[in-house]
Amino acid sequence: MVTTTPKKVTETKTAAKETLLTPRFYTTDFKEMSQLDISSNLEEVEAIVEEFRIDYNRDHFIRDKEFTASWDTFDEETRQIFIEFLERSCTAEFSGFLLYKEISRNLKKQNPLLAEGFSFMSRDEARHAGFLNKAMSDFNVSLDLGFLTKTRKYTFFAPKFIFYATYLSEKIGYWRYITIYRHLEKNPNYRVYPIFRFFESWCQDENRHGDFFAAIMKSQTSLLNTFESKLWSKFFLLSVFVTMYLNDLQRSDFYSTIGLDSKQFDLHVIRKTNQSAGTLFPVILDCEHPQFIPLLDKCAEANQQLIDLEKESQSFFSKLPAYVLMATSLLKLYFLPTIETKYIWTEKV
Ligand SMILES: [Fe+2]
Ligand SMILES: [Fe+2]
Repeated sequence: MVTTTPKKVTETKTAAKETLLTPRFYTTDFKEMSQLDISSNLEEVEAIVEEFRIDYNRDHFIRDKEFTASWDTFDEETRQIFIEFLERSCTAEFSGFLLYKEISRNLKKQNPLLAEGFSFMSRDEARHAGFLNKAMSDFNVSLDLGFLTKTRKYTFFAPKFIFYATYLSEKIGYWRYITIYRHLEKNPNYRVYPIFRFFESWCQDENRHGDFFAAIMKSQTSLLNTFESKLWSKFFLLSVFVTMYLNDLQRSDFYSTIGLDSKQFDLHVIRKTNQSAGTLFPVILDCEHPQFIPLLDKCAEANQQLIDLEKESQSFFSKLPAYVLMATSLLKLYFLPTIETKYIWTEKV
């Protein structure tokens, strides 16, 4: 007798509506990047590429028995919360994969060492994205990554901006994953889905990626030792922190499902990432400034107003006060005093 198990219908998603806060896809000036002279910090770059080559996580991303449990027990709201978390994470990882792969392909001839480093990083990001997409199938959905590649709009960033932005996104990724991992290690009753068990080794990939960008940046001293570099450091720190804060406050239900307070979680990740950046950037933010959190909250308030008005399809004019509140809060944040880090490689030789 042949028995057939009823097949679950897997819905293929083509990614959520794009907004300013959704994970973005980037492209850059490959020619300019291929001409980078990294000779002043060659040893460090080589050492990190060697670490990539060892491939510590080759056998890490293997799904085990725990994933075969049925997640139909999740109520519909929790299911949606998880799908959204997995989808956003998968999109962000996949965006890294595409960018690193393209850079690697374009640098192969002129800059083989950097090309190799980028190729190893794209390998890691492909694993991360694939693992997340497989996890989505536990909830009977999957992301159409081919469709995403073709239809997403790509944002152009000059190489130096790619370095500031990706260094920070890798480091913030590290702090996010490790914070969730450590929290669930202490509170296993909140570990409602097995993917979190993989975060400890996973985040080491992100940490190494961040170190790779740091090593490249150290070879380009003008990115770290000029007045302009201080302005850009501040700008990117703030952009990355505000984007995460606004995103996560919108998703506090996800964090409470795993026993975290989204605001406290974000503030911890912001402080830690800011500290990490202090070992590279010439300036970092003063997160303990009494105005820092209130101004972040003002941005979140303006964001909430904009979301509500958007739902009501209100005109630009009625949104204006919220835009003004957002812009003034961001400007105030930007002009708060910073902390000088004064690391030696930021000095001119
Ligand atoms: Fe990743
Ligand atoms: Fe990464």
